[in-house]
Amino acid sequence: VDATNSGRFALTAQAGQMDFLGRGASKTWGFDQPFLGPTLRLHHQSETAAEVSNALDEAISVHWHGLVVPGDVDGGPHQLVQPGQTWSPVLPVDQPPATVWYHSHTHGMTARQVQMGLAGVLHLTDGQDDARGLPTDYGVDDLTLVLQDRRFDQEGRMSYDLSMPDQMMGFLGDTMLVNGQVGATAVVPKGVVRLRLLNGSNARIYTLTLSDSRPMHLVGTDAGLLDRPIALDELTLAPGERYEVLVDFGAGQDVSLLSGQNINEGMMGGMMGGRGPSGPPFEVLPFAVDSAAPVRMTRVPDSLGGSRPKMDASNAAERHITLDMAMGPGMMMRRAENRFSINGEAFDMTKINFSTQVGQVEKWTVSANMMMHPFHVHGVMFQVLSENGQAPAPQNTGWKDTILINGQAEILMRFTRPAAEALPYMFHCHILEHEDGGMMGQFSVV
Ligand code: C2O
Ligand code: CU
Ligand code: CU
Repeated sequence: VDATNSGRFALTAQAGQMDFLGRGASKTWGFDQPFLGPTLRLHHQSETAAEVSNALDEAISVHWHGLVVPGDVDGGPHQLVQPGQTWSPVLPVDQPPATVWYHSHTHGMTARQVQMGLAGVLHLTDGQDDARGLPTDYGVDDLTLVLQDRRFDQEGRMSYDLSMPDQMMGFLGDTMLVNGQVGATAVVPKGVVRLRLLNGSNARIYTLTLSDSRPMHLVGTDAGLLDRPIALDELTLAPGERYEVLVDFGAGQDVSLLSGQNINEGMMGGMMGGRGPSGPPFEVLPFAVDSAAPVRMTRVPDSLGGSRPKMDASNAAERHITLDMAMGPGMMMRRAENRFSINGEAFDMTKINFSTQVGQVEKWTVSANMMMHPFHVHGVMFQVLSENGQAPAPQNTGWKDTILINGQAEILMRFTRPAAEALPYMFHCHILEHEDGGMMGQFSVV
């Protein structure tokens, strides 16, 4: 859906059916389609009128993950769209071009609602990617890939029954879905192709490689383009994150996008049994080169003109954030929404955890206990200052809004939009079962 000229788009959350495996239909949800939602295209500096209608029989919300918009249109858990209602936020977008996304954010229900299909991708564009030498032909050499894992029962129905390990560590499926499809192959031209990767899974962390070890040229992170491409052999993609990479198919060879097993299992693998990261990589998506297809891009550009994060940390307000889980048998005795916490407190809709100001630079030291947690902040893009006291990994050197915390990281940001106490911003773990379970907080920006 191209809203760059019209300045408006509409989405209706609705129930549908999908036969993912050819064995029988699953009940699914989507926006304007049976499963997931359309890719939306917005100008990166625009005011877009959105219209979100809810034709389901339970309340939802739609959060624009990665859009730097004020709290009153952010679509968090305080902005429910009741069945039969329409929510009409105007989105004042003014940020660099990027691949962002939208998904339901109903407290306590997010994991299940996203699992059912309430998610989609949003491209912010300035129309200059051709000049940058980046592929732009949607679905041809510019592929948007939503990675999700699911489980199916004997009848081929998608199932979301949380076992005890799932409740603690987040849901893991055994079947890969790319853009809602199982077993698809991407057909690509014999040139340079752009992949916009979104991890829309509830909990799985992918470690992506290409089967013949050719490099992925990283050109964009969550919140925008890099200043120049970075060649990577492996890319870690945690829930909520987006990365844009270029892959060169110029030699005409087919290749598969692979992932290692979920790296979050290693730390507690022994304990949870059988969910460890050992085991061979699995196929995420095979690519087949169509030598007859017209080729538009033949080389990876040297520079992209994106901005390198730069912010003065000297007057930063400092905060320490610890992502906690209550472990051991006691954990399961707790109510589901109180099993996880931030700085020892489970999310409370009625409590604002802190307040900051528009223009204030903030430095947050974020620590993860027990396992890795993808940490996301609403209403801002941030720079990663360090990871475990070292310079950030190459893939974390661009603008981010979600970062996988494996130990400790320092992030630096400046809020540019207000969020009142009544409609605050969220910060949380993007393992959706953790978020629903209390690993979330909220803050106002005044
Ligand atoms: Cu993608 Cu607060 O979420
Ligand atoms: Cu968000
Ligand atoms: Cu978590």
